Amino acid sequence: MTDSSTNSSWGGRFSEPVDAFVARYTASVDFDQRMYRQDIQGSVAHAKMLCKVGVLSEQERDDTLRGLEEVRIEIERGEFNWSVELEDVHMNIEAALTQKIGITGKKLHTGRSRNDQVATDIRLYLRDETDTITAELTRLQQGLIALAEKEADTIMPGFTHLQTAQPVTFGHHLLAWNAMLERDFSRLQDCRARMNQLPLGAAALAGTTYPIDRHYTAELLGFDAPTENSLDSVSDRDFAIEFCSAASLIMMHLSRFSEELVLWASAQFRFIDLPDRFCTGSSIMPQKKNPDVPELVRGKTGRVYGHMLSLLTLMKSQPLAYNKDNQEDKEPLFDTVDTLRDSLRAFADMVPNLIARKDDMREAARRGFSTATDLADYVVRKGIPFRDAHEIVGKAVAYGIDKGKDLSEMTLEELQQFSGDISEDVFDVLTLEGSVAARNHIGGTAPDQVRAAAARAKKSINSRN
Ligand code: ARG
Repeated sequence: MTDSSTNSSWGGRFSEPVDAFVARYTASVDFDQRMYRQDIQGSVAHAKMLCKVGVLSEQERDDTLRGLEEVRIEIERGEFNWSVELEDVHMNIEAALTQKIGITGKKLHTGRSRNDQVATDIRLYLRDETDTITAELTRLQQGLIALAEKEADTIMPGFTHLQTAQPVTFGHHLLAWNAMLERDFSRLQDCRARMNQLPLGAAALAGTTYPIDRHYTAELLGFDAPTENSLDSVSDRDFAIEFCSAASLIMMHLSRFSEELVLWASAQFRFIDLPDRFCTGSSIMPQKKNPDVPELVRGKTGRVYGHMLSLLTLMKSQPLAYNKDNQEDKEPLFDTVDTLRDSLRAFADMVPNLIARKDDMREAARRGFSTATDLADYVVRKGIPFRDAHEIVGKAVAYGIDKGKDLSEMTLEELQQFSGDISEDVFDVLTLEGSVAARNHIGGTAPDQVRAAAARAKKSINSRN
C-alpha cells in the first residue's frame, strides 16, 4: 500500500517525511475526489494520445485503459481506499493504477503534470455540471412559460415601489421572470464556450519535450481546441470565475423571484398558494405554512456571491504560472455548482404547481386605483394636456379614497365633477380588462401579447441543442 513516510510521487529529493499535519493541511483529496470521473476520462484520452504518438505501446495503452476502468468501478462501488498521504485525486488514482497494472501505470504521467491535469479535470467537471444546470434552467423556463400561457388573462396589480401601479396580467409577470432566465441561459452558453478548451499538454508550465498531439486529445475529450499558451493554461481560472458570476446572476434572479413568492403567499397578499409539499409548518404556531423553499433560495444567494468573490480574490495576486493557491478554487466552485443546481431544481419542481388566487389578485388590482393612468390617458385623448389630466385624476382618486370607491365604481356624474370632458365611454377604459387589453404592442401586458410572447419563448427553448 501507500508509503506514508515519503510521498512516492515526488519524494525523491526529500530527506525527511512530510509532517503529518502538513500532509493533511495540504491535501485536497477529501474534496477533489468528486472529480474522479473526469480525472479518469482525461487519463484515458492522454494514454490514447501517448500511444498514437508512439510513447506508449498498444499493450501499455490497453493495460492502462483496463486498469483505469477497474479503478473507476472500485470508486463507484465505494471500495476505493482514498489516502490523504497521496494528497489528491490525481495521485490516488495513479497509485491505484500502478498497483493494478505494475510499472506501466507509472508511464501514464509522461508528458503531463498535475498542473495541466487538474486544469483539465476542472474544465471537464464544470462543463458536465454546466450542462446539468442548463437542463434544470430550461425545465424551469418551460414551467414558467406553460403557466404564463394558462394565466395570460389573469389580472393582478403591477407594482412600482411595491405600490399598486397599473394592472398587468399574471402571465406577463411570469414571462418577466422567463426573460431574466433567458439571459442567464445565454450567459451559461458563453461561459461554456470559453471553458471548452483543452489545457492538457501545458505540462507543468512550459509544455513538454514529448511529441504530443494536443489536437487529438482535445478531440477525444470533446474540447473545441487546445489552449494557446502553456503558462496561461495551468494558471487560468477565469472560466470558474465566469461560471460563478453567471451563477450569481441566476441566484440573484431566483432570489427576487423568491421574494415575490414569499410576499404573495402571505395572508396580506394572498396572490398564490404554494403546494404543501414545498412548505413546512411551525412547531409552535399550528396555523403556519412557511414558504421554506423560496426563503432558502433567497438565503443561499449570499453564499454564491461569496464564492465568486473568493475566486476573484484567490487569483488577484498570483504570479504566473501554477501556484498551490489554485487548489483553493475547488470548494467554492463545488458549492456554487451544488447550490445553483439544487435551487434551480427546487424551482423547476415548484413553479408549475403554483396556484394563482385569481379573485384575490383581481380584487387587489381593483382596490389600488390601478386604472388611474388609463383615466388620465382618456382625458388626454379628449384634448387636455397630460399634466392637467394628471391633476384631474389625482382629485378623482382622492375622492375615491374618501368614499371607498374605485374609479370604475363611480357614476358618470361623480366623474364629471373633475372634468366635463368625461363621457359614458370612459367606462371602457376604467375596467381592468380594458386597461390591460389596451397595452397591445410587443412587450406589453395585453393577453394577446402574452400569448404571442409565450409562443416566441417556447420557440427559443425548442431551438436549444
Ligand atoms: N491538488 C492540486 C490542485 O488542486 C493539484 C495540482 C498540484 N500541483 C502541484 N504542483 N503541487 O491544484
